Amino acid sequence: MRVELHFTPHQIDELALRDRTVVVIDVLRASTSIANALFNGAKEIIPVTSVERAVKISGNLFGDHVLRGGERNGKMIEGFNLGNSPAEYSEEKIKGKAIIFSSTNGSLALEKARFARNVAIGGFVNISQVVAFVQEVNQDFTVLCAGNNGMFSLEDSVCAGMLVQRLSEADLDDVAFSDAAIASGMLYKGYSRNLLKMVKNSEHGKYLTGIGQADDLAFCAGVDTIPVLPQLIGSVIRVKRDTEKAEPSKTPVIS
Ligand code: MLT
Repeated sequence: MRVELHFTPHQIDELALRDRTVVVIDVLRASTSIANALFNGAKEIIPVTSVERAVKISGNLFGDHVLRGGERNGKMIEGFNLGNSPAEYSEEKIKGKAIIFSSTNGSLALEKARFARNVAIGGFVNISQVVAFVQEVNQDFTVLCAGNNGMFSLEDSVCAGMLVQRLSEADLDDVAFSDAAIASGMLYKGYSRNLLKMVKNSEHGKYLTGIGQADDLAFCAGVDTIPVLPQLIGSVIRVKRDTEKAEPSKTPVIS
């Protein structure tokens, strides 16, 4: 198994991901919100890259069974029901609903992966699910970090490094890592003791704190707290592998 990694979606052409297995990582906050929404019973999530498209798709379905969720500049989009704070995707708000979802970087990364064969969505909150998934698929795969407006994002790269670290510790016959994957593994080693501190000191972490969304950081830095594996199937994200609402891990988030 060869593991490749791209620090931003701008580094890769979608056709290069055709028929590949891809893990999309957007720790702050798309991956975490998507996992929490599906864990709390959302029927499905339809990622789109533009607000216009979200409005068009939800059209007259909007309201009863279809909600709009997402952000621009970290804030809820006007006319949407939900922003991109993972905690907003509570059972009472989203159970049984479909969510048209648009975020700045996460949606773009998902769009880039649309021709891939298998696409899983990962973060710290479901890292063990992602490790199990790539071991099960047992093929070369690509980690696609959502990044931050085309720039390297620390939190996504450290999370990718955690995946690399877990795979390098797993008893896999032959696993090879690209230089970018090796570099992310080293990054993870440097920050593994206090992921929340790393997230708080990241550029996007500081930005979200600056707009009053600091509570999201601890939520997004939790490890294995949301044991589901969202997968992009065609143009819809669903949970194929459900752990029947297993108890989230009680690993305390170091503040
Ligand atoms: C993104 O997709 O860019 C992020 O999830 C943005 C955010 O939620 O702050």
